[in-house]
Amino acid sequence: MRIILADNYEEMSRKAADIVRSQIVLKPDCVLGLATGDTPMGMYQELIKMYENKEVDFSEVTIFNLDEYYSLSRENPQSYYYYMHHNFFKHINVKKENTYIPNGTATEIDEECRNYEEQIKNKGGIDMQVLGIGANGHIGFNEPDVNFEAETHLVKLDEMTIEANSRFFSSKDKVPTSAISMGIKTIMQSRMLVLLANGESKADAIYKTIKGKICPEVPASIIQLHPNATMVIEKNAAKLL
Ligand code: PGA
Repeated sequence: MRIILADNYEEMSRKAADIVRSQIVLKPDCVLGLATGDTPMGMYQELIKMYENKEVDFSEVTIFNLDEYYSLSRENPQSYYYYMHHNFFKHINVKKENTYIPNGTATEIDEECRNYEEQIKNKGGIDMQVLGIGANGHIGFNEPDVNFEAETHLVKLDEMTIEANSRFFSSKDKVPTSAISMGIKTIMQSRMLVLLANGESKADAIYKTIKGKICPEVPASIIQLHPNATMVIEKNAAKLL
C-alpha cells in the first residue's frame, strides 16, 4: 500500500486528479471506477480543469460508479446518477453510453446487480477504482460486518451512514435505508485502488484501515491485501497514523 500525504483538501484533490490523469494517459480507453460524496468533489473539479486545458481526454474512457441509493430516481438531486452528471460527466467529453451507474429504481434488483457485474466484466474489468471512506470504515456502501466475498448487491445502510448522509437530505427520515453497491470482491478485482480521505472525522477509520487487523468490522481494511493500492490522505485524516 502506498501512502501519499497532502497538507490540505486542495492538495489531496490535485494529487488524486494527477493519478487519474496518468491512468488515462497510459491507457486512453481505460475503465475507471468512480465514487460520490464530498471527498472526490475537488478531484472532479481538477479533472474538469485539466479537460478544459486539453490535458486529458475522456472520449475513450469508460466509467462505472460504485453505488446508488435504492429507490431514488435519476432525476432526484440526491441520486448518485444526478451527482455524477451534474458534477462531472456534463463538463467533460465522456460518452454517455460509456457511463454506468446502478439503477436504483430497477424492479428486478438481483438482475440489475448481476447485469452490472457482467457489464464490468465485458469491458475487461476496472483499471482504476477511486474510493472514499466512511467514518465507519465503509467503502462503496459496504458497511461494517461486511461479507468480503460479495459482488454488486443490495445493501442495508448502517445507522452511522444514514446519519452522516442526512446532511444532503431535508431530514434524516428521507435518507434511503438501502442501496445498490459494488461488493468488496468487485472492488478488490480492480487493478488499482485509489482511496481518498479528508478531515479528522476519517482519522479513526484511516488508522484502522492501514494499521489495524483485517476484519469485516472495518470493510476498508481488506485493502491491505490489494497488490496495487494508493491512499491519498489529507493531514487531518492521517493524524492517528
Ligand atoms: P464523503 O463520503 O466523501 O461524503 O465523506 C465518503 C463515504 O461515505 O464513502
